[in-house]
Amino acid sequence: MPDFKIAPSILSADFARLGEEVDNVLKSGADVVHFDVMDNHYVPNLTIGPLVCDALRKHGVTADIDVHLMVKPVDRIIPDFAAAGASYITFHPEASDHVDRTLQLIQNEGCKSGLVFNPATSLDHLKHVIDKVDIVLLMSVNPGFGGQSFIPETLNKLREARKIIDASGRDIRLEVDGGVKVDNILEIAEAGADMFVAGSAVFGAKSESDANTYDSVIAAFRAELAKVGK
Ligand code: DX5
Ligand code: ZN
Repeated sequence: MPDFKIAPSILSADFARLGEEVDNVLKSGADVVHFDVMDNHYVPNLTIGPLVCDALRKHGVTADIDVHLMVKPVDRIIPDFAAAGASYITFHPEASDHVDRTLQLIQNEGCKSGLVFNPATSLDHLKHVIDKVDIVLLMSVNPGFGGQSFIPETLNKLREARKIIDASGRDIRLEVDGGVKVDNILEIAEAGADMFVAGSAVFGAKSESDANTYDSVIAAFRAELAKVGK
């Protein structure tokens, strides 16, 4: 079985208690913190920047932080995120004038680099730069908001991306972002994804009685993933 990673998107967390929310979701078994950066320019929403990433590190978060940049331009902010403790930095090729340069910049800053593909964006962007890519992120919704429905065509695109990655012979993660729920994570994994962003499915699963009830949703994701290939 692939080394599956579950990456809750803190976009759906309670920002007033962010450190605690991240602690709880990691304690519940999540692997990676997905960090959505929106600029009200590339996408019509505005969220969090390097200061918040740095604050999570200072709070004591040691898990990988997966910074998903939905900003334009991209390059200016990359060193700031690297200094703030980002592990992965991914960006949308449409948002950079020089995709190869941006990928190199991320790696030179000591982070894992990745490209993000909107639902209508072709995987062709990978062709000439795959040697500089550590992670491929397929959007299964249009970027900008949590809580949208998974676009089923993403399953075909995942299969295509999986073939490209396997043919490259490189160790590249295939991540999916948007509308991932307990009832569709199995088919998403079977299509080739090995890293799963889930925002509303995780942070919406909290019960009033127990601040730590992310346990049950993370366990439900793992139980589905255990069925892959069976
Ligand atoms: C959307 C973000 C996602 C979002 C996913 O632009 O990139 O990470 O938070 O949220 P859900 O899981 O609620 O679709
Ligand atoms: Zn995201």
